[in-house]
Amino acid sequence: MASTSYFALVPAAGGGARMGAECPKQYLPLAGRPLIRHALATLCAVALVERVYVVLAPDDTFWPEAEFTDLAAKLRVLRCGGATRAESVANGLRAMAGIVAADDWVLVHDAARACLTVDHVETLIRTVGNDAVGGILAVPVADTVKREAYGRIAATVPRDSLWQAQTPQMFRHRMLATALAAAPSVTDEASAVEALGLKPKLVAADTTNLKVTYPFDLHLAEWILANRK
Ligand code: C5P
Repeated sequence: MASTSYFALVPAAGGGARMGAECPKQYLPLAGRPLIRHALATLCAVALVERVYVVLAPDDTFWPEAEFTDLAAKLRVLRCGGATRAESVANGLRAMAGIVAADDWVLVHDAARACLTVDHVETLIRTVGNDAVGGILAVPVADTVKREAYGRIAATVPRDSLWQAQTPQMFRHRMLATALAAAPSVTDEASAVEALGLKPKLVAADTTNLKVTYPFDLHLAEWILANRK
């Protein structure tokens, strides 16, 4: 299967309830710009990525158009977000269908992973190569992991083969659309593809590609961005 074009799809239709802020977390200020601007600018800076689609909630009134004029050549806004992340991604894939070929690669990335670098994306693309399934960025689990039951430790889970999934997660358009249609309640794309009986590649990234979820994560992300060479 020859590799074809690369597109990015960024679901950004969530409310970010765990952040406890007045506006969705993707619009909170981070290093002087709206949080979402960082990942979108990085994805637009990847030469191999042809277009970057961002999926907003249909009634989103926070999207700061003026912040994105310099990215207009690559960035496209889709106002078709759904009730869940998986639904937002599936709706985005549907909206891209006329432009993107069935075998083109789609890199799905959380708007909340603001510290993504061009190097992370290029490593993913290079390592997945022409793989028949696709792959995701991830990091090996560093801590000892416990399974809980009623506030007590029920088991210690061997961590040797455990990884934490990150994004981007990279699959071919048709495979991903098919997978999400069959498994609409997954929390990442890889889970939907795994449910088809397929085994996506794990591509080692690092913990700087964190997902901003809780208020303190904003400080961590700010520090990472400020201290990068
Ligand atoms: O809430 P969480 O951080 O897990 O969301 C991951 C990503 O999915 C975020 O970029 C968020 O905006 C997006 N999302 C979405 N549609 C939803 C819920 C979340 O696009 N209904």
